[in-house]
Amino acid sequence: MGISNHYSSNVDNNGPSDQIPLKVLGVGSSMRKDSFGTETLKIVLKKVDEYGAQTQLLNLFDNPLPIYSPDNDFNTSAINHATKMVNWADAFVFATPDYHGSMAGSLKNFLDYFWSEFAGKTFGYLCSSHEKGLTVMDQMRTAIRQCYGWSLPYGVSINSSTDFDKRRQIINKQLVKRIDIFARDLVVYGTLINSQFKKDLNSTIENSYAVRYRK
Ligand SMILES: Cc1cc2nc3c(=O)[nH]c(=O)nc-3n(C[C@H](O)[C@H](O)[C@H](O)COP(=O)(O)O)c2cc1C
Repeated sequence: MGISNHYSSNVDNNGPSDQIPLKVLGVGSSMRKDSFGTETLKIVLKKVDEYGAQTQLLNLFDNPLPIYSPDNDFNTSAINHATKMVNWADAFVFATPDYHGSMAGSLKNFLDYFWSEFAGKTFGYLCSSHEKGLTVMDQMRTAIRQCYGWSLPYGVSINSSTDFDKRRQIINKQLVKRIDIFARDLVVYGTLINSQFKKDLNSTIENSYAVRYRK
């Protein structure tokens, strides 16, 4: 699979050429400074960027959110920053460690702040786990389905004890390939979904879930 620097330069590989670049937000949720998950998320975002999307990173380690409460004063700089990033994005990559077969509390707490912002957007998942993290990804998928977001049907799983060398470089070739496929699919399918959702939002049709998100 080739990588093009510009989204419009390879129609077969990358989809329609008349699209504006997809905006992809990576959300890192490990509270470990040297998180393998967040480090791999940066590699994924670089790949996503090579497929022509725009990318930004919201690292919850650097931008921790207070525990959500409906009674919160939402006007804090961390919440404002996260909200700005979420509203900017057309698609997301969530990275989380596997904690008890589930996502990290920091990621669930982040999700609790948002709902309608996720509708019509595309989501991909990355899990740092010793057990593939399939139940973790399922739980992220369930939360996003509840918010009318679209999830890629597969994700990226990393295992810090086998996929990296001592210098923390990826040594698993299958993982490198999977990241490439994941990044490509996120950009291609994310662009299609984003484009259709925006069309439906801006039209007068009544027979789409998009109707309830019209402002
Ligand atoms: C509270 C807690 C629960 C964990 N539960 C699991 C688990 O159920 N399965 C697993 O494979 N790893 C589990 N782990 C290990 C982490 O998922 C693992 O260290 C992960 O790679 C850390 O990712 P990071 O480097 O991105 O922080 C757990 C770790 C903690 C602290």
